[in-house]
Amino acid sequence: MDTESRVTQALAHHGQSHVLRHAHTLTPAARTTLFAQLAEIDLALIARLAHGGEDAAIDFATLKPAPYFHLGADTTNARAHGESLLRAGQVAAFTVAGGQGTRLGWKGPKGTYPSTVVTGKPLFRVFAEQITAAEKRWSCAIPWYIMTSPLNDRDTLAFFKDNNWFGRNPADTFLFPQGTMPSVSFDGKLMLETPSSLAVNPDGHGGAIRALASSGALEDMAARGIRHLSYFQVDNPLNKVVDPVFLGLHASSSGSSAEMSSKMVRKRDAEEKVGVFCESAGKTVVVEYSDMPAHLTTALDTDGALRFCAGSIAIHAISIEFMMRLTTGTGDGAFALPFHRAKKKVPYWCDLQHLTHEPNEPNATKFEAFVFDALALARTSLVMEAARVEEFAPIKNASGNDSPASSHQIQSNRNANWLEQFGVKVARRPNGDADARIEISAETALEADDLADVSLPREISAGQEIVL
Ligand code: UTP
Repeated sequence: MDTESRVTQALAHHGQSHVLRHAHTLTPAARTTLFAQLAEIDLALIARLAHGGEDAAIDFATLKPAPYFHLGADTTNARAHGESLLRAGQVAAFTVAGGQGTRLGWKGPKGTYPSTVVTGKPLFRVFAEQITAAEKRWSCAIPWYIMTSPLNDRDTLAFFKDNNWFGRNPADTFLFPQGTMPSVSFDGKLMLETPSSLAVNPDGHGGAIRALASSGALEDMAARGIRHLSYFQVDNPLNKVVDPVFLGLHASSSGSSAEMSSKMVRKRDAEEKVGVFCESAGKTVVVEYSDMPAHLTTALDTDGALRFCAGSIAIHAISIEFMMRLTTGTGDGAFALPFHRAKKKVPYWCDLQHLTHEPNEPNATKFEAFVFDALALARTSLVMEAARVEEFAPIKNASGNDSPASSHQIQSNRNANWLEQFGVKVARRPNGDADARIEISAETALEADDLADVSLPREISAGQEIVL
């Protein structure tokens, strides 16, 4: 049977024939495109997901907080081990940048967003400068893998080209698009975005594992002798692209390497909307804020601290062997993590108006996989506590929490802390925030200690802007 007949029959079987309603009006090329897109879709999976996500059942009665490596513990050995991995060229940086950034409302890939406090460096430049500084520090190559999506891949590539790959060898930056999933209306129907294309969304940061395999990135890493990935999201300008302490702990956990490790920060309060590291049936898992029963969210230890306090900041160290183990033998990288459902605003083709309509309210369900679901598949996993002000200044929303403004304040606070360690007097507001806009580039200091060799001002006064 030819593709058109096979697809037409399958659509009819699953009650989805409405997506062919314009097929008879399409040019032959557009018609081929539509059928090719439809042929890729697992209609049985969509039917299943439309009736319920694949969220793992968690036994909340036996759920425990995940153990973690505490901030302030001795990290001398871990650091030495992590540095030896870097020097040996066994670490790659991996950024997931395929998201749509709808909450921020930035037209363009989120990695192109101007993120730093004074000079407004785009996120991609912030990471590129850190990678270059780390390569110099540890005399090594740190290849950079970036997952885009079919929706932003072209623009991302153009941005790197326009910026001359930020002075790095283009062969050491590997862009590859993740997969997509069709969005469906609340009654489980596929949606057209145009008469010849379905409404689709990137398949979540959990799509990274399949995409690493199917894009050839894993093979490329193996050929370069890479053994560990430093995984981070594109929207946190304070992320350390490689952290020797974290990598060292991860790679020497329980005598051998952990398969997937994670960083956490202590939750600000019970209400903070972040996933929490827990232990369920002997495995480390992240339980989403919305899934956690209220009595556990607010539960306190005997010392009055939050019992489930380990908030996820979406930073991981992942062993290549683990990625290979999950994806080998699954046929062209067909491995997939469970899909979760989210109600979102999805533009759709309006037959009456003859245009793509942008809804103001959520009108569709998107299916997305989450990378932290891979933790449950890891044989060994470690969680390390990080200092929030040092490593977490996300840019998610246009205003309020996790916005450019809040990120700028955290960046200035971190930089003020670094400078104060070297005797610089920094103006502070009554709430402790730095009362100045302070930017420090990775070329100047990759870590606070690097400021020892930098000529610093004696004082930074209220309202001052400074770039080091
Ligand atoms: P978010 O969950 O914050 O989503 O992604 P987002 O797509 O950037 O923004 P909204 O929800 O539309 O406002 C967290 C990280 O995961 C990446 C994002 O690029 C970001 O680095 N991500 C997310 C992907 O790479 N692919 C996806 O399908 C989703």
